[in-house]
Amino acid sequence: MDTKNLVLRTKFMDRLCHWTMVACFFLVALSGISWFFPSLNWLGYVLGPPQMARLLHPFLGITVFVLLMCMCVRFVHHNLFVRTDITWFRHIVDVLMNKHGEKLQIGKYNAGQKILFWGIMSLISLLLVSGLMIWRAYFAMYFPIPVVRLALLAHSVAGLGLILLVLGHIYMGIWVRGSIGGMVTGYVSRAWARQHHDRLYEEEVLPAETSSAKRPH
Ligand code: HEM
Repeated sequence: MDTKNLVLRTKFMDRLCHWTMVACFFLVALSGISWFFPSLNWLGYVLGPPQMARLLHPFLGITVFVLLMCMCVRFVHHNLFVRTDITWFRHIVDVLMNKHGEKLQIGKYNAGQKILFWGIMSLISLLLVSGLMIWRAYFAMYFPIPVVRLALLAHSVAGLGLILLVLGHIYMGIWVRGSIGGMVTGYVSRAWARQHHDRLYEEEVLPAETSSAKRPH
């Protein structure tokens, strides 16, 4: 792949972490949905026979949590809210209409992506805590039954909430052309970087290119 005119957006380890987590997430989410909606019971077979699905679901859930925490550590500094995020909110209609006239001062991630990031991290944490509390094989016996029932409710609500957030995330990935390619190959075009993340482009991409052009070859 000729990367001369491309900008590296996501490093290999981060992409590996993201896509491994996505594979585990879908298996956990589909088996979870299969127990929540009886008519979708057949979805549980993604993890094999019912007993096997019951056994694997919590372990895969913990894997999703661990991988998401790795992403959290790697990406958290790009997802802290800054003053310029207000500009993005003020131009939300233009953003949704895909109009790119104004400079929106967007860094590595825009304000919408940051909200999604924190939503995902909060819900997966709630899923982990409530999931451990309802895990019959190891922990549920340490909690009174009403507490386990509450944890089950919290687990279902957080699971559905996370699935809805992820559907929004996938929709936005398809809507913003070039971003899924960026998460697969790691690279985006220079025009894409300038159009969608103008502040990052001006503060980091351009200076890095200028200094490497000045270096003797
Ligand atoms: C088919 C499913 C998915 C697709 C196509 C997809 C696509 C993407 C893309 C394109 C990016 C990079 C965005 C950019 O460079 O601006 C990204 C980042 C990310 N994705 Fe996904 N994703 C999927 C599933 C998931 C799932 C299931 C989760 C978590 C439950 C998730 C969590 C994240 C996070 C945390 C980031 C980093 C965003 C940030 O730091 O603000 N993704 N994804």
